[in-house]
Amino acid sequence: MSSYEEIRPRELKPALLELDGISRASVEAHYRLYQGYVNKRNEILGKLGSADLSGANQIYSDVRALKVELSFAVGGIKNHEVYFEHLGGSGGEPKGTIATLITRDFGSAQAWRDDLKATGMGGRGWAWTAYDWDEGRLFNYIGDAQNTYPIWNATPLVALDVYEHAYFLDYQTDRGAYIDAFLANLDWAVVNDWVSKYQIPLR
Ligand SMILES: [Fe+2]
Repeated sequence: MSSYEEIRPRELKPALLELDGISRASVEAHYRLYQGYVNKRNEILGKLGSADLSGANQIYSDVRALKVELSFAVGGIKNHEVYFEHLGGSGGEPKGTIATLITRDFGSAQAWRDDLKATGMGGRGWAWTAYDWDEGRLFNYIGDAQNTYPIWNATPLVALDVYEHAYFLDYQTDRGAYIDAFLANLDWAVVNDWVSKYQIPLR
């Protein structure tokens, strides 16, 4: 029986309530969804502690149901922690080390933006710019839900939430305009802190 520690939601940075083009009401509602992922992660792990392991079954069992939905809850936590943390800046052209990586792996900042936006338009939940440690490069990955389609051993550096809850209040169905607003609020200093913290190599 594995043990676990309850986690608490990270606090929302004050800057998130003053974004340019993404309203305070939208961010506050969005943050409540994130709190829900944290609460359900704790609840699921608590139930797993007393799940009947001997009854595990691939069609239906407590172990299966709890572990599948745990991946949704944990994905929701990780995705939103990247999302909220790297908003609150002034967007614009990538700066610092991430700019070098983007130019190297996409050709130009504009090519990266075009590809990320297309990935976000093509996804049903997420688009991520992540560094794949095996390939040694950045790539824009697509996601339909909190738990699809993660690539092992890749580290997300930009997480673009394209679930309707992220933009419907401000943009109704105009997802493209929301993606532009997302890009205009990116905090490149935060992204560069991650590049440094994770020691992503320039080669
Ligand atoms: Fe979200």
